[in-house]
Amino acid sequence: MFQRLLFGLSHQKRIDGFARTWQTRAHRLLTANPGAKRAKDALNGTWLGHPLHPALTDVPIGAWTAALVVDLLDRRGTRAGRFASSVALGTGLAGAGLAALSGLADWSDVNRRQRPVGLVHALLNVAAVGAFGGSLWLRLRGSHSAGKALAVGGYTLASAGAFLGGHLVYTLGTQVDRNAWAREVDEFTPVMEQSDLPAGVLTRATLRGEPVLLYREGERIFALADTCAHAGCSLVSGRVEGGVLTCPCHGSAYRLDDGAVVHGPSPYPQPSFELRVRDGQIELRLASPGGRKRRAAFAEAAASPAAGFGSRPPPPAAPPR
Ligand code: FES
Repeated sequence: MFQRLLFGLSHQKRIDGFARTWQTRAHRLLTANPGAKRAKDALNGTWLGHPLHPALTDVPIGAWTAALVVDLLDRRGTRAGRFASSVALGTGLAGAGLAALSGLADWSDVNRRQRPVGLVHALLNVAAVGAFGGSLWLRLRGSHSAGKALAVGGYTLASAGAFLGGHLVYTLGTQVDRNAWAREVDEFTPVMEQSDLPAGVLTRATLRGEPVLLYREGERIFALADTCAHAGCSLVSGRVEGGVLTCPCHGSAYRLDDGAVVHGPSPYPQPSFELRVRDGQIELRLASPGGRKRRAAFAEAAASPAAGFGSRPPPPAAPPR
């Protein structure tokens, strides 16, 4: 029953028509100039390496839950209880503003199935904010019983909004790292003949079933996962400029060197690979974000004159004596 309702919501054409109009406007506003783009990156959580929205929603949900608990326990309506629940309501309202902005930044890049669900999620939360705001206003005017009743309504709306938020992430995959299930290849594994890799062209290869991307620039070769961490587009048709690879779908930009995020909407870095060339074959293995394996690769390369490492070509052979 629930599943059918949620499926219907994802495919509701009328709601989606409305949602698309507002998504386009939101995206335009959030990418209108470099300052707006920087703010959008921050709201997407690129600085955190994790979406910001779920962390920020904990503030209003936690504060409003606290207000509800105080209301329930403080049946006699003591001065301290009234003060505590009003402070909790106000804290939740302030937190809801930031949570809404980060949600808007994420929603401005969602796909067709996620878009109408995201809109209804947002409208439920706006209604909840209205109810909690009204509850606080009534309390400040001395109508505590009415304020408590309205807070229960607000909590019901916020819970429905949170349910749809969970559906957006866990069922529809919004802002989920698309490389979360990729196989981790720890051993150097051949993926391509070095002579087959053209310079200046993004080239797709396969590393034990996982699509990877190779790019040669002069003497250097870079290797990243091909599946964009944001929403799964292939990066092979992306654009490379100044050592940065930009995704063709929503414009996430990653440093070729190590996959670090330069611009969102992806908050997740793109998996990068250590590379060496042996017997004319390009070999890759996953590089850990902390660089532990990178150091290991350097040590291994030093021990073996045939091995290259990182994204550098193999060391030149010693001249004949
Ligand atoms: S899939 Fe969205 S930026 Fe790459």
